[in-house]
Amino acid sequence: ALIRRHTFVVEEAPYTRLCSTKNILTVNGQFPGPTLHARKGDTIIVDVYNKGNRNISIHWHGVKQPRNPWSDGPDYITQCPIQAGAKFTQNIILSTEEGTLWWHAHSEWDRATVHGAIILYPTKGTSYPFSKPHAEFSIILGEWWKQDIEELYTEFLNSGGDPVISDAYTINGQPGDLYPCSKPDSFKLRVDHGKTYLLRLINSAMQDILFFSIANHSVTVVGSDGSYTKPFHTDYIAISPGQTFDLLLTANQPLHHYYMAARVYSAAPNAIDNTTTTAILQYNHGNYTAPSLPNLPYFNDTNASVNFTNRLRSLADHEHQLHVPLNITTQLFFTLSVNTFPCQNNNNSCQGPNVSRLAASVNNISFVSPTINNILQAYYYHANGVFGTKFPNIPETPFDFTATELPLYLQTPKSGTEVKILEYNSTVEIVFQGTNLVGGADHPMHLHGFSFYVVGSGLGNFDEGKDPLNYNLVDPPLQNTIAVPVNGWTTIRFKADNPGVWFMHCHLERHLSWGMDMAFIVKNGIAPKARILPPPPDMPPC
Ligand code: C2O
Ligand code: CU
Repeated sequence: ALIRRHTFVVEEAPYTRLCSTKNILTVNGQFPGPTLHARKGDTIIVDVYNKGNRNISIHWHGVKQPRNPWSDGPDYITQCPIQAGAKFTQNIILSTEEGTLWWHAHSEWDRATVHGAIILYPTKGTSYPFSKPHAEFSIILGEWWKQDIEELYTEFLNSGGDPVISDAYTINGQPGDLYPCSKPDSFKLRVDHGKTYLLRLINSAMQDILFFSIANHSVTVVGSDGSYTKPFHTDYIAISPGQTFDLLLTANQPLHHYYMAARVYSAAPNAIDNTTTTAILQYNHGNYTAPSLPNLPYFNDTNASVNFTNRLRSLADHEHQLHVPLNITTQLFFTLSVNTFPCQNNNNSCQGPNVSRLAASVNNISFVSPTINNILQAYYYHANGVFGTKFPNIPETPFDFTATELPLYLQTPKSGTEVKILEYNSTVEIVFQGTNLVGGADHPMHLHGFSFYVVGSGLGNFDEGKDPLNYNLVDPPLQNTIAVPVNGWTTIRFKADNPGVWFMHCHLERHLSWGMDMAFIVKNGIAPKARILPPPPDMPPC
């Protein structure tokens, strides 16, 4: 395994989209940011220099970082942010991940422009579990606001309501032909007829699950979230913020170019944001005609989203064996809700004439991030008063989660900074139950420090008598982010074999900011190799 060293300079740079120019936060002036390449099991060292004008932190999404939570990145969870003018050297310790992951800022809403791909090739002398593609491309889906992101974030927090909807979705940073002033810069993927290509699809969007499709072409899904899947053909992908898919595309059509496109999937029947980002699949030879758009599922087609996700299976062949925990030692049931805080009786500021502000919660606790210390440091050095250890295993008051009318006390969460302590090597099952408080939505839940097996999911209330009988314990997909369906449930399993502090949250940025978050502390094991590594000397101070 190699050690690879990179420099990330976080700095502002002017970018023009949708007929207007603004300064955005970038890494090395690039948007999307630089791609990190490595082989399975390597270590990447990144010297992060903050030359911007505000605090920042960087997270390596999907990298398990065995025993090394110090470099994981979420601010106030595992580190204090890197202050303007400061530097932090992060060690990205790769282990079993292979395929596509990504990195992004994990401070306020900076990840809107501060993100890039991580590409992990097989170890030397081994190869993909599919024939070698002719070439490969990263396709990063994203969102663009004409407004400054820092300003957008501050206004969002102050308003107590939903954030302003983005002005465009993007493919590799470009809105595409259907948006004003964007056509000349649309991303073009150039292919030769008859060849097969590997597309590494990443959803870096802030607020939305997206459907993605390529006109007249189907793709074969071969990987997801940095592990291989049983190959399956599909006409469209449903991809949550945080997720990645590895797709094989065979260029087998006669014309000169075709659109690939992405647009929102939203369970809300009245979702109004229905715009489409495009890029061009361009054949090097072929007859010229105007391209047509692919048939994307309708924006509120929950079945299309769920059906796609349900087709995912781990490859689970001889070389890629699974270790699905079969005996569960720690059984957890987490409800996911969007709630409201009445203005008069809580310490969250409400502005103007509002009587309430939106909030979100796990087990009816709306997570409050520490502000002057971080959880990892407080845990490691035994500092009191930063977090509590009373995160409940199940909601304190069970109820009919998907009912349309719910009592007010269930709609008002408590707020707090509570963690759940896990014994080293415990085998953990979490049933996530989406609820029907304020507005129904899918919740793409992401866990740091692990990949987890998605053993089951369904619509409606989880039935603890019947539903576990249908769990897939043979070839469940191994994910780091999974969309819990609207008013439905999803069950995941993992072995807590990575000591540290590990954040878990909804990857929709507004839900993250509203408190649909919690953290696990996985205790040290006894053996020296089962303990958290010592902290690096240059951890950012608070
Ligand atoms: Cu992709 Cu906590 O992050
Ligand atoms: Cu959510």
